[in-house]
Amino acid sequence: MILDFGSQYTQLIARRIRELNVYCEIHPFNHFPQPDDSVRGVILSGSPWSVRDTRAPFPDLTGIKGRIPMLGVCYGAQYLTHKYGGEVLPSNTREYGRAKLVKVDTGDPLFKGITPGTQVWMSHGDTIVKIPQDYLITGSTEDVNVAAFRISVEQTWGIQFHPEVYHTTEGTRMLGNFVRGICGCRGDWTPESFVDMTVRSLREQIGNDRVVLGLSGGVDSSVAALLLDRAIGDRLTSIFVDNGLLRKDEYESVLDAYRRMGLNVRGVDASAAFVDGLRGVDDPETKRKIIGRIFIEVFDLEAHNVQNVKWLAQGTIYPDVIESVSVNGPSATIKSHHNVGGLPDKMHLKVVEPLRLLFKDEVRRVGRALGMPDEILSRHPFPGPGLAIRIVGEVTPAKLETLRDADEIFISGLRRSGWYDKVWQAAVILLPVQSVGVMGDERTYENAVVLRAVTSTDGMTADWSHLPHEFLAEVSNQIINRVKGVNRVVYDISSKPPSTIEWE
Ligand code: XMP
Repeated sequence: MILDFGSQYTQLIARRIRELNVYCEIHPFNHFPQPDDSVRGVILSGSPWSVRDTRAPFPDLTGIKGRIPMLGVCYGAQYLTHKYGGEVLPSNTREYGRAKLVKVDTGDPLFKGITPGTQVWMSHGDTIVKIPQDYLITGSTEDVNVAAFRISVEQTWGIQFHPEVYHTTEGTRMLGNFVRGICGCRGDWTPESFVDMTVRSLREQIGNDRVVLGLSGGVDSSVAALLLDRAIGDRLTSIFVDNGLLRKDEYESVLDAYRRMGLNVRGVDASAAFVDGLRGVDDPETKRKIIGRIFIEVFDLEAHNVQNVKWLAQGTIYPDVIESVSVNGPSATIKSHHNVGGLPDKMHLKVVEPLRLLFKDEVRRVGRALGMPDEILSRHPFPGPGLAIRIVGEVTPAKLETLRDADEIFISGLRRSGWYDKVWQAAVILLPVQSVGVMGDERTYENAVVLRAVTSTDGMTADWSHLPHEFLAEVSNQIINRVKGVNRVVYDISSKPPSTIEWE
């Protein structure tokens, strides 16, 4: 169990531990279940706060500390010091960035097998200047005497550096020493064991009821469908809605892939309703709301054609779950990405979310374990409102056609050149801007499109992809030669932040 004090790295601790095939959960420091015997260890995360601040997060560790092995990381370590009689003060040397653990007690179980002088990553403004009685210093850097400690009379450790970040070279080994060595976790939490466990619990939860699920063509909803299919077979009805805002030929090819996977899937062509609903609208958020509303109407109607349905399945994943209960509250939603958040309320169905404990990369691994074909597993993320937010301004059938043709050239080019899998997401955006060009002897006055390709791990931050100039030149030529109405192609070289991935 990881107690979160609001650090930007808390999720990373969880990911590293799960990479060691040990299951863990994150809970807010002030709202966590009292650990039962299934909790083998507790980690206290870092925090943007200082322990000396009156509003700093102070957890109640009664009945946990001293009973269950505990590891405090950064703020967590400082809290264990400050609260139990030591002293934490603002640091007057630089404690940010790489440092070497020049002294390390490799006889301590946390540091078993660690190389003296190993690189660690520091990131704090305060530092521990005095440790309480019974605390032993087990690691020091040149600048930080108490880089690591252990409480001699109990199974509690503290480290002021961050083992979860990549720059701490042997950080994974340290976390492994804690969860496997000290806590005694077996490390048998694998995609396969997750599938077995989830299929069993889904059967128990759902019994003989029927379930509906909305497929988007993306990885999350597809993996959720496969899991449920394995658990309850044809009592799951999946619904794939064509909102008329999908990529070229995507509706047919994705529907076909779902059928080949053996899913009980219904395709619904509602493109006319969406395109009609968007007529005359140019504000991005209004577009999103209209699309969300029509989707709910279409899905609701279709779902109620399924007899006796009791459950709505959703592909919610762990970051959405943690976000909604996080210490800092849900972070300011800059765009209303969760377009169909209103679905469960409207439908009066019970909700089942088989992926709610998984990170994105874990969802992919589970998909692989379930035999999901690569064509779905490795697809780039695609926004729910689809091409509507890639046509800046009003959406019309003619613009959709232009954008689809240009997008098809870019995406198939990425696939052919081997760049598709190196890019996190790619898109073409149609601008409401016309510019002058010449074609043959004619002067043209036509639209500009933007190519956007980014690298990212989670979409929260992203950098533009450094695609080769020759490749960009070829795509640009093809688009201008083949797509009617486009005479200019530009490449977007903005990172997120401050730009976003989509243009709307
Ligand atoms: P931004 O544009 O905020 O996008 O950098 C981050 C990721 O979210 C996707 N996105 C959306 N997904 N509904 C969705 O389901 C939306 O309204 C939406 N807007 C952006 C975007 O494609 C990228 O992957």
